[in-house]
Amino acid sequence: MARNGTAVKTKTQGLYDRIADVQNLAMKINGYRASVARYLRSLELNIGMDSLVLDAGCGTGLVTLAFHDAGLRAKRITSLDLSFNSLAVAREEFSQKRRYSRRTDIVQANVLKMPFADETFDLLLMCGVLEYTPLDTGLCEAARVLKRGAPLVFLPVKPSIVGSVLELLYNFKIHPLAKVRRSAAKYFNILGNYDFPITEPISWSKTIFLLEKK
Ligand SMILES: C[S@@+](CC[C@H](N)C(=O)[O-])C[C@H]1O[C@@H](n2cnc3c(N)ncnc32)[C@H](O)[C@@H]1O
Repeated sequence: MARNGTAVKTKTQGLYDRIADVQNLAMKINGYRASVARYLRSLELNIGMDSLVLDAGCGTGLVTLAFHDAGLRAKRITSLDLSFNSLAVAREEFSQKRRYSRRTDIVQANVLKMPFADETFDLLLMCGVLEYTPLDTGLCEAARVLKRGAPLVFLPVKPSIVGSVLELLYNFKIHPLAKVRRSAAKYFNILGNYDFPITEPISWSKTIFLLEKK
């Protein structure tokens, strides 16, 4: 596993190192992976065997797996997170399917300072991670590593009852959607803001922004 973290564990890293297995199980039960895969399948993403994809704040790898499940293929997909234990679970999950694991790289790093050159990636997936960071700094760094015109599929936690419960449990801060739009518009064209179908549990806490690097 590539490492780019600091020697000192942050509070967030410690939290996700402790709960990696439970978190993975909870997200499996609520059908999150299938919901994200369905959404990704519905997009006309211009991604192919020469594309580089990044799942930033990947946790236990469910969004990376959803990318594969959606039938999308890339040259490489990089899954990056702060939490070693979450990444260990992700590695284990990816190893279940060789065609997934052989195209996936795992990197331990901070989304605010990613170890990649400017304009590296053709697609960026960021789900439930910028609640732990200053929003604008996170979006600015996301834009830095994306190629011009490339999409960011951004799934923030939305202000909602379920979102507020999660905010307490997981010790993060929901960004108001007006602030998300304002900050995103600095670096991205906002192509859309969608909701998951209400029948899918992920719709109770997350919304989807489809952004394009300016
Ligand atoms: C709610 S989980 C989301 C995981 C995954 N994206 C998903 O949708 O299932 C939040 C993840 O963000 C990671 N995280 C929080 N702050 C981070 C940072 N500054 N850099 C990298 N990862 C971070 C945590 O370790 C955790 O795995």
